Amino acid sequence: MLKIGFVGAGTVGTALAVRLSQKDCPVVAISDRSITSAQKLAKLVTNCHVCHTAQEVADAAELVFITTPDDAIAGVASGIQWHAGQSVVHCSGVHSIDILESARRLEAAVGSFHPLQTFASVNQAIDNLPGSAFALEAEEPLLSRLKELTSLLNGNWVELKPRDKVLYHAAAVFACNYLVTLVKLAVDLWQDFGVPPEEATKSLLPLLKGTINNIDKVGLPDCLTGPISRGDLGTIDKHLNVLKANNSSLLNTYKELGLQTIPIALAKGKIDKGKAKELKALLSLRRK
Ligand SMILES: NC(=O)c1ccc[n+]([C@@H]2O[C@H](COP(=O)([O-])OP(=O)(O)OC[C@H]3O[C@@H](n4cnc5c(N)ncnc54)[C@H](OP(=O)(O)O)[C@@H]3O)[C@@H](O)[C@H]2O)c1
Repeated sequence: MLKIGFVGAGTVGTALAVRLSQKDCPVVAISDRSITSAQKLAKLVTNCHVCHTAQEVADAAELVFITTPDDAIAGVASGIQWHAGQSVVHCSGVHSIDILESARRLEAAVGSFHPLQTFASVNQAIDNLPGSAFALEAEEPLLSRLKELTSLLNGNWVELKPRDKVLYHAAAVFACNYLVTLVKLAVDLWQDFGVPPEEATKSLLPLLKGTINNIDKVGLPDCLTGPISRGDLGTIDKHLNVLKANNSSLLNTYKELGLQTIPIALAKGKIDKGKAKELKALLSLRRK
């Protein structure tokens, strides 16, 4: 097993170090700009040495994960004297391996290893990491090693080219961050009929879980339900009117999402092209 080191003892660094060490990967060294953070992580992993510099980590480990915030990755990598036979990997979802160019010039193998997961806290990251998908970039033999690590974490992987990375990350923003935004919009609408945010969230959660369950079990496009999937023009017209009257700032968002939903309904086959055209006209109409 390769000796592994981490530079950056935050959420992702801690979750990876803890979970990989539980699978008998030797996590031998850790550094952070705050020694306290490094010490905290080291307490969770057996035989992990707290280092004062990133260079010490690179000297002790064969595979170094740079798990700092994105903006610090290039600076950390360029501050280390790498050598052939070493590997360095970052975990950013948006940056390609090109930001590790300084390490590649010194003949280290470079890669990226992005957990496609949302980590709001360290404990929740340790819980959520296993079973995640990982986006990988690397050349062989590092690529195979990174694939092995995803297996140890019970995850699967997708291999990306450097040019794909930004689009891949934008897709993650739709699936994760904007889902949060949509729930917040729904919770806010419940305020209009007097239900407090906590109660609204609690009531909406089974619907959300049911939707995710349907995406998982039934799949796209058949998991789509609701007025657009049925072609219920009258219902949609009522929604547009009530939003226009009470929450006009949401009208364009509702319309735009509706327009994006029509092709899913068509693919499901519950509406025909004629109904899709009528839906499109209704959702494109400017309301006075
Ligand atoms: N969080 C997520 O949901 C998530 C998901 C997938 C991928 N990622 C990626 O994982 C990487 C790490 O993100 P994170 O959420 O774990 O960040 P984080 O919780 O903020 O942790 C980053 C750690 O790096 C330390 N640090 C900052 N600058 C440093 C430097 N120059 N040298 C050494 N240590 C430094 C920070 O110290 P301080 O505490 O003193 O600032 C902190 O302990 C990023 O590339 C991110 O894009 C994050």
